[in-house]
Amino acid sequence: MHHYHIAVIPGDGIGQEVTPEGLRVLELAGELTTAYRLDCDYFPWGCEYYLKTGRMMGEEALKTLQSYDAIYFGAVGFPSVPDHVSLRGLRLPICQGFEQYVCLRPSLLLPGIKSPLTGRKAGDIDFVVVRENTEGEYAGSGGRAHRGLPIEVATETSVFTRAGVERVIRYAYKLAASRRKGLVNATKSNAQQYAMTLWDEVFDAVGQKFPEVRTERVLIDALAARFVLRPDSLDVVVGSNLFGDILTDLGAAVCGSMGLAPSGNINPERDYPSMFEPVHGSAPDIFGKGIADPIAMIWCGAMMLDFLGQKPAAELILAAIKAVTAAGRTLTPDLGGTGNTMSFAKAIASRI
Ligand code: NAI
Ligand code: MG
Repeated sequence: MHHYHIAVIPGDGIGQEVTPEGLRVLELAGELTTAYRLDCDYFPWGCEYYLKTGRMMGEEALKTLQSYDAIYFGAVGFPSVPDHVSLRGLRLPICQGFEQYVCLRPSLLLPGIKSPLTGRKAGDIDFVVVRENTEGEYAGSGGRAHRGLPIEVATETSVFTRAGVERVIRYAYKLAASRRKGLVNATKSNAQQYAMTLWDEVFDAVGQKFPEVRTERVLIDALAARFVLRPDSLDVVVGSNLFGDILTDLGAAVCGSMGLAPSGNINPERDYPSMFEPVHGSAPDIFGKGIADPIAMIWCGAMMLDFLGQKPAAELILAAIKAVTAAGRTLTPDLGGTGNTMSFAKAIASRI
């Protein structure tokens, strides 16, 4: 029996509603497989914490989190705090500080779920986006000068390092080699002549070591269209921080809902804890109604277990998600159902 120390950060909005449901499922799978136990510590960080303390997370937060096996994270951001303050005060420092340079985001059309694309059935859409997660457009380099004056200027400088690009692309090749062996390079090197040409060169160079992987270079605008028109043609996609961010909301949408898509912020070397969180945000528009779809959060838990070496429990949870979506009765309103967060999670639990 393994004991894992998990840092739980429910965060803001519906993060607070889906996190307990995800944990309920995780703990149950542990009891039934008798393979592990989770020792969870809760951190009340987020926008409410910021309004009380002026900080999004505790002092020395990274030092505190470093000793955990993994972080289970809901969402951050609420209208009471500017989004750049909340995101830059919590999620980004963890991803960057813990070198979680791979943001792994699967898109899978689940049984019983209706894609907004016509004629797609379960399994027709099954790809993974590998998003660079520590630098690029979200590196945090830039500034504003002459504030409020007519000559005001703002710069937001993308930062692409050879080492940073190489490590995420290598991960994507390895992943593609373990799947259907197709890898798409999401690029924009026609217009972004410095960063994206470096990106493309590294993509080709790393590919020399993976002759079995079929590659394509696709410009990001055309790739957005392809996510809608031919998502079945995708296996693994690797892209920069911004491109991956945008593409994965689209990936969630074509699979039926923002509430479905899980995500892992991974430090592959395991020098630091990895963090598992849904692709979606805090959804203030539905917060408090108890109708948030918990699938993404529950699925994130399965990804976390898989990463920790608990594959059977991870597979058990994913199989339960599929069985419950196939049955259809307890789906939340985002999927056209009349269920709620708790009833759906309970259905998953009883299926497990
Ligand atoms: P969002 O993902 O929170 O919501 C977009 C739309 O999807 C909304 O209509 C929402 O109701 C729906 N939705 C999202 N998750 C759902 C779920 N589980 N079940 C049913 N419907 C769901 O994105 P939005 O509105 O752009 O951002 C809201 C806040 O969240 C902002 O403060 C933003 O900065 C933050 N955010 C945080 C993220 C994170 O913590 N990683 C990621 C994205 C946004
Ligand atoms: Mg996003």
